[in-house]
Amino acid sequence: MIVGAGPAGLVLGNVLRAADVGCVILERQARVHVEQRGRAGFLAPAGVRVLDEHGLAGGLLAKGQSHGTCAFRGEHGQFELNYGELGQREVHTVYPQQFLVTDLIAEFLDRGGDIRFGTTVTGMHGLDGDSPSVDCLGPDGDAYRLSGAYVAGCDGQRGAALRALPDGAARSFRRYHGVTWLALLAQAPPSMEAVTYAVHDRGFAGHMARTATVTRFYLQVPRGEDPGEWSDARIWDELGTRMRTEEYGPLREGPILERTTVDLSSAVSVPMQYGRLFLAGDSAGLISPSAAKGANLAIMTARTLAAALTDALTRDDERGLVGYSDACLPRIWHAQEFSHWMIDLLHGPAGDGEDAVFLRRLQRARLLSLRDRRSHQDHFAENYVGI
Ligand code: APR
Repeated sequence: MIVGAGPAGLVLGNVLRAADVGCVILERQARVHVEQRGRAGFLAPAGVRVLDEHGLAGGLLAKGQSHGTCAFRGEHGQFELNYGELGQREVHTVYPQQFLVTDLIAEFLDRGGDIRFGTTVTGMHGLDGDSPSVDCLGPDGDAYRLSGAYVAGCDGQRGAALRALPDGAARSFRRYHGVTWLALLAQAPPSMEAVTYAVHDRGFAGHMARTATVTRFYLQVPRGEDPGEWSDARIWDELGTRMRTEEYGPLREGPILERTTVDLSSAVSVPMQYGRLFLAGDSAGLISPSAAKGANLAIMTARTLAAALTDALTRDDERGLVGYSDACLPRIWHAQEFSHWMIDLLHGPAGDGEDAVFLRRLQRARLLSLRDRRSHQDHFAENYVGI
């Protein structure tokens, strides 16, 4: 039983079906909802390779765009890093997550998979025994219980899996990084080729291409900000100031399709398993979007779990399941470390206090080192696209 049809649950389901392992995916939302939910869009080569190896990369290889540059703007000027030429010389593939999710659902159904939309898992039982079960509430209000050999919690941080962990079964390490973004989707073509990070005394601003007609922007705002306070005009005005359009040219504007706030926070569950329940994707480790690693970690943990479940169910070999957390956690912590470093790089504290000014000087020194030193650039590139 797989709870959740995001990238983690769908990759897991597809890999299991390819190995002829029976499974059912239970998803709270309607199919149309998950197929239209715009979220991440940057896939690292390791994630793309996993998808490709399992016959899941048809859409993204045909329609995704290669992306290998990012730019930093600030009072230091602007510089661009062609990370596709640095480090391991690898690039991202830009493919909006809703397209990937749509492809993965179609493929899972093609592989004879059973996926139940509009079905909320409300509880879990017998996780420490041989036959765990989950309580489901179907789309017509029909309540029933399903049992199976294992449960995969791929239902994010607010799902049923984390709630089902008994006290003391796992420790959740959490941290709010002290930064909140207003995340925006604009009906506008990208204004620049590169992902652009703007560092400004008024706060961070970011620009990320999604498709030819839709672009993602971010604005750092105080925690608890009401997105409704941000009219289209105010957003474009603030983006213009922080992205220094007077110096670098105007942004291509259009209606704002979506505005939500995101608290940059992390959570890691240690271990990622309890009895016959295994966590993958966001439920195991939430990562701030500062380095675009969430979807990639979801794919990697799902792949590792799929291999371990297949060994257990087809060869009676449980070593992969026993070692599942240990296999995944180093990579998760490594990604957290880099993401934390990116947060520090992009956000200086506000104000004229001695501490704030000191930290902003460090931030500037870090940016200049990244601009000028090849070894620093290689390290950045390896972590930015790798892990
Ligand atoms: N019952 C059934 N489904 C549930 C329940 C529940 N109780 N709770 C949550 N879900 C579903 C959600 O509706 C959602 O579709 O679980 C799914 C979890 O999917 P995601 O949030 O996409 O999580 P995951 O697959 O781990 O992928 C996470 O992808 O969006 C990127 O970068 C982002 O880090 C993130 C990564």
